[in-house]
Amino acid sequence: MTGIHLTRYLVEQEQQGLLSTPALRLLLETVADACKRIGHLVNQGELGGALGSNQTENVQGEVQKKLDVIANDIMLEAHRWGGYLSGLASEEMEQVQAIDAGATHGEYLLLFDPLDGSSNIDVNVTVGTIFSVLRIAAGSPASEAAFLQAGTRQVAAGYALYGPQTMLVLSLGHGVVGFTLDRNTGTWTLTQASMHIPEQTREFAINMSNQRHWEEPVQRYVAELLAGKSGSRGTDFNMRWIASMVADVHRILTRGGIFMYPRDAREPGKAGKLRLMYEANPMSFLVEQAGGAATNGHQRILDIEPAQLHERVAVFLGSRHEVERVTGYHAS
Ligand code: AHG
Ligand code: MN
Ligand code: MN
Repeated sequence: MTGIHLTRYLVEQEQQGLLSTPALRLLLETVADACKRIGHLVNQGELGGALGSNQTENVQGEVQKKLDVIANDIMLEAHRWGGYLSGLASEEMEQVQAIDAGATHGEYLLLFDPLDGSSNIDVNVTVGTIFSVLRIAAGSPASEAAFLQAGTRQVAAGYALYGPQTMLVLSLGHGVVGFTLDRNTGTWTLTQASMHIPEQTREFAINMSNQRHWEEPVQRYVAELLAGKSGSRGTDFNMRWIASMVADVHRILTRGGIFMYPRDAREPGKAGKLRLMYEANPMSFLVEQAGGAATNGHQRILDIEPAQLHERVAVFLGSRHEVERVTGYHAS
């Protein structure tokens, strides 16, 4: 099946009854188009004049990069007139944006992280765009409450990766596929027909600089990994940390591993750093669809009923056996 273009893939999924509506196909094609444009700006780097700080803060109090804002605008603009969306929500916008398409409202909601890993943009390291699609009763306006759905309700999720290759990784709830952008022709071409995460791994990803702030179960789990062959695990583990979740998750979807961003004592009021709706839910959907697991240390991430749009969550995801082990340590 590899070699076909994104449109053909989506049409085939629709014909097989695996993609619920033609509107969803248009929505996903529009996301892919917007990602192509964001990817082009990322590739242009200094030549496009879009690097550096924007001197503004987002709703979470983080300094925005120029490209955070531009990528957000590109995604908003791309969907403004499509008619299939009722509203959008983004990490970079305090409030949800309802689509004003006259009297009718589309039947989908789009949530996104316009530029993930933006601290890496100025140093020319992989960044990406993460997205999640939910359904809303047709005809309903997009209030904030309509977005507060558990991750199990996602009808599609994915990300674009702006790295050595520009890629689009997607799940419609029937496995995970990957497309590579052919920059000569501008087409997304299917290159990974079925991405799968091995159950076992000997590679982990965590920001070790926060070690002193972690809770006991994470201290114990990582200490055992670091002890390697001479410790209770009896084998050596390797570590990677790119600081772009999208790039770390892509590595895990490609060759396995466990990714962790636990809650820690730096900001006791926050459940973690990563955002449930724009990062944890779409990535957990992909990881589960690829045979892996994703928890917050206590429960499956996709089962969490969100209370707030910009809610944070602890994240443990990737190869099933390791995620189950560290989750088990939280219970004991
Ligand atoms: P964003 O650039 O959208 O704010 O997300 C950054 C996130 C995530 O991509 C990454 O895994 C993590 O922050 C890195 O955090 P540290 O800088 O604390 O390692
Ligand atoms: Mn992010
Ligand atoms: Mn971001």
